[in-house]
Amino acid sequence: MKDSAKIFNQIVEDRRSVRVYDAAAEFDHTAVQRSLERAILSPNSSNMQLWEFYRIRSEEGLKQVAWMCMNQKAAKTARELVVFVARKDLWRKRQRALVKEMKRVYGDQPKDKGAQRAFNYYESLIPKYYFNDPFGVWGFIKKCIYFFVGLKRPMVRHGNATDVRISVHKSAALAAQTFMLSMKAEGYDTCPMEGMDSLRIKRFLKLPRRAEVTMVIGCGPAAEGGIYSERFRIPNSEVIFEV
Ligand SMILES: Cc1cc2nc3c(=O)[nH]c(=O)nc-3n(C[C@H](O)[C@H](O)[C@H](O)COP(=O)(O)O)c2cc1C
Repeated sequence: MKDSAKIFNQIVEDRRSVRVYDAAAEFDHTAVQRSLERAILSPNSSNMQLWEFYRIRSEEGLKQVAWMCMNQKAAKTARELVVFVARKDLWRKRQRALVKEMKRVYGDQPKDKGAQRAFNYYESLIPKYYFNDPFGVWGFIKKCIYFFVGLKRPMVRHGNATDVRISVHKSAALAAQTFMLSMKAEGYDTCPMEGMDSLRIKRFLKLPRRAEVTMVIGCGPAAEGGIYSERFRIPNSEVIFEV
């Protein structure tokens, strides 16, 4: 095994969901910033980066958001809370940023076939995928097109409003995992939480209606007894298959 794999293995093995944090131990908040900057390097669907991260640091903010996390100890004792938010509503803004970036790299009228395909993808296909009308008509039409095209050849199947939501949460969750592993590499612990009142958190953060909280992550140095149980995983043979 390579040295880098050994280090990575150690980080993965050591990361546990920690439910109680030490109030007295030193906590370097810059580790959170560094870990978020690593999190944004995570793979994400079409590189649309439909995510936002809100750091809760003030005493009052921590108290309020911990309450919105059902006063779970993992939130109540956390030294910092980070809210991972899925922002599917920002798709148009991100699409424009990506097209602008492509123009910067390839110029306005690229001759290269690969670049033309990329332009077509972001200028034409991305809006078709992310746009959804309030009645779900366009989503239904897309599903029908996929069904009929899919009878003859492999075809993507997702495209209605729910599919887009799932896709955006998947990317935000990947960023969350990068963040948690990075925090472990920095010597700190985390606990992801979906046991929370997402509506209240959205209001607290003044987020628009269509933004969605993916999870809240408690961070800090673990307290003695902060890990509640031994790690348990279903045997590999029941979950890893070779086909
Ligand atoms: C999406 C998600 C939501 C979770 N929500 C909570 C939660 O609300 N409260 C909590 O104590 N743990 C929560 N967890 C932590 C899991 O219980 C934990 O990851 C699991 O038991 C495995 O333990 P480990 O992380 O120590 O390996 C959550 C984990 C994930 C991935």
